[in-house]
Amino acid sequence: SPRPESSSPHAVRYQLHHTDANCAARLGTLTTPRGEVPLPTFMPVGTVGTVKGLVIDQVAATGAGIILGNTYHLALRPGAEVVSQLGGLHAFSGWSGPILTDSGGFQVFSLAERVKITEQGAQFQSHIDGARLSLTPEESIAIQEQLGSDIAMQLDHVIALPAERPAIADAMLRSVRWAERCQQAARREDQSIFAIVQGGLDPELRQESAERLVELDFAGYAIGGLSVGEPPAEMYSTIEVTTPHLPVDRPRYLMGVGKPEDLIEAVYRGVDMFDCVMPTRNGRNALAFTDEGPVRLRNECHKVDPRPLEEDCPCPACRHSRGYLRHLFMAGEMLGPVLLSIHNLTYYQRLMAGAREAIAADRYAEYRQQKLAGWQSGG
Ligand code: GUN
Ligand code: ZN
Repeated sequence: SPRPESSSPHAVRYQLHHTDANCAARLGTLTTPRGEVPLPTFMPVGTVGTVKGLVIDQVAATGAGIILGNTYHLALRPGAEVVSQLGGLHAFSGWSGPILTDSGGFQVFSLAERVKITEQGAQFQSHIDGARLSLTPEESIAIQEQLGSDIAMQLDHVIALPAERPAIADAMLRSVRWAERCQQAARREDQSIFAIVQGGLDPELRQESAERLVELDFAGYAIGGLSVGEPPAEMYSTIEVTTPHLPVDRPRYLMGVGKPEDLIEAVYRGVDMFDCVMPTRNGRNALAFTDEGPVRLRNECHKVDPRPLEEDCPCPACRHSRGYLRHLFMAGEMLGPVLLSIHNLTYYQRLMAGAREAIAADRYAEYRQQKLAGWQSGG
């Protein structure tokens, strides 16, 4: 099939190879200054410049193509200036592939104390030491430029749901104005900015947000403000009313999501990129993802189970029995959290690799059914 060159002027470009014949799932390539990433993809979370518990070769070995860092955490500690003096986030963390940094918008909402949002930006106190800080759209971009990520996210105004429609509309329109200020503030030619669609669970507000942001022409578009406690069906329907208003030649990134079934449902509706702490956080907590659903390794039933978590998983955890992995957790050994983090990240990468293969063959709808059925089987 013909592959027209993208007309995007951005440092980060998206090439759509194929849309599944039976749903909105897309196969594409993200091209960045630090290499190409096949989409759909999952980005492991490296909040403070480390994917918790893993050395960077282990992260790469899970199949990850791009990782995520956080402006909020790195600006508080050790500070963007320190990261910059140590060569930027790639050199600092040892990850030489593409990095996306979140803007701080969501962390101000979820972590900071005494938050005050004005048109200028956010004022808040650090959750670490209570220090008074501010974050404007311009400051968020300046910090992300110092970190040197390949993709910077716009600063957005995230609010708790449920909320009154006027409050949701206000935050959405402010996020659009902040997106434009981020764009105006950007100086680095080797970094692209993604805009963030907001608007709660309201289809009209989501459409208006998407249309206004698309008008500004960003390298990519994220869907924000979801997975904040709403029922899964409402998250899926909000994705479904948003993606049709996004350009086909730009990547779509669903922020902070999610469970394996959430990824499968979002890809079905046209999403290309994800990040979530779930594989690493749950792994540290002795919960493993498998094709038969989640396995809680602290359960007694795994005590003398000789089987690996998954027969066909190539990860180092799956060279061991479930009984051994359980023992590591019961004994408080640090290898337990490390191995399960590796297994879960490998699981997410294999899930996305399988999705890409299925889309290429116009079989994504079957792939989705097969995965959902397996997770419901309960082993
Ligand atoms: N991470 C998860 N959700 C969001 C969001 O709505 N905005 C930002 N900036 N980051 C997020
Ligand atoms: Zn494994």
